[in-house]
Amino acid sequence: MSAATQPSAALDVQGLVTRFETRAGKLTAVNGVSFRVERGRILGLVGESGSGKSVTGFSILGLVDEPGEVAGGAVRVEGVDMRALSRPEQRRMRGNRVAMVFQDPMMTLNPVLTVGHQMRMAVQAHAKVSKAEALERARQALETVGIPSPAERLRAYPHQLSGGMRQRVAIAIALLHKPAVIIADEPTTALDVSIQGQILAEIRRLADETGTAVVWITHDLAVVSSLADDICVMYAGRIVERGPAEAVIATPRHPYTRGLIDSVPGRTEPGNRLPQIPGSTPSLAHLPEGCPFQPRCARRTDQCRQEPPSRDFGPQSVRCHHPLEIAA
Ligand SMILES: Nc1ncnc2c1ncn2[C@@H]1O[C@H](COP(=O)(O)OP(=O)(O)OP(=O)(O)O)[C@@H](O)[C@H]1O
Ligand code: SF4
Ligand SMILES: [Mg+2]
Repeated sequence: MSAATQPSAALDVQGLVTRFETRAGKLTAVNGVSFRVERGRILGLVGESGSGKSVTGFSILGLVDEPGEVAGGAVRVEGVDMRALSRPEQRRMRGNRVAMVFQDPMMTLNPVLTVGHQMRMAVQAHAKVSKAEALERARQALETVGIPSPAERLRAYPHQLSGGMRQRVAIAIALLHKPAVIIADEPTTALDVSIQGQILAEIRRLADETGTAVVWITHDLAVVSSLADDICVMYAGRIVERGPAEAVIATPRHPYTRGLIDSVPGRTEPGNRLPQIPGSTPSLAHLPEGCPFQPRCARRTDQCRQEPPSRDFGPQSVRCHHPLEIAA
């Protein structure tokens, strides 16, 4: 298929660069990030704290403000160039064609309004419908995310709901207009494991049924291994490994991905300490020349002071001078 006839991906991010002006100088929090997510697919964006996952999400939605700036790259939602839009046009896309679910549902919910009131406003922000119709859509959205007695919940204030329910409401709001893309930024980390499992299963079903593409941001590789179709692993603002989830988990090629997998609970004998990746996430102000993982990498050589090349292993690709050729 030629590029001209190829249908647009739900989300296409190319060479995204986001910088922050800080006292330590200009920091590049997102450094040339590229990925595509097709309709109905789930991409897991994984990395340790500070690797640039949230900033990537905010950059896609046009939510980066001073002291930050999206300094380069392209973001297309269903072929629409988000960066070329005016601020009001970006706002119209947000909540409608592309929506974000934050780690804290109170970033979405207003504590002084009932769930029904705010969901109705969210419906009417993008659809010309009556109050009754808007409330009915809100009720259906709550049902879709598995909230029992949804009509009753519409009359509740956020503080009258449990944390899990609040997060489901935030997800329901994100889903109201059947967006092409949802960016979910660690929405389940604060919830207990069984509720996490239920929400993840519902997101999978919704992606399959509605064709919504999902970017699921998490620091927990175990969470995405069962949920995502594809995985991108981020380190110091770059994607260091990408590929189908099964392949990345079964045969990680980047030493950092290998370290993340080894530190997932359940892979070691009970009572044994989890192996940790030595060292800590690097300060973006003091990155080494070449590969940013050098100070923590057992495989490093002098070559690693040069920018690592991209190497392909079937559908997987990795940025490393000495990738793991045979999975241990
Ligand atoms: N407002 C800001 N001002 C300055 N630097 C910032 C700001 N927000 C983010 N950064 C920089 O961007 C880097 C990436 O931050 P980001 O929040 O995307 O990390 P993350 O991968 O989402 O981490 P976490 O798992 O802790 O949520 C941070 O390490 C920090 O250096
Ligand atoms: S490029 Fe070198 S330092 Fe970086 S991950 Fe690969 S082997 Fe390790
Ligand atoms: Mg984050």
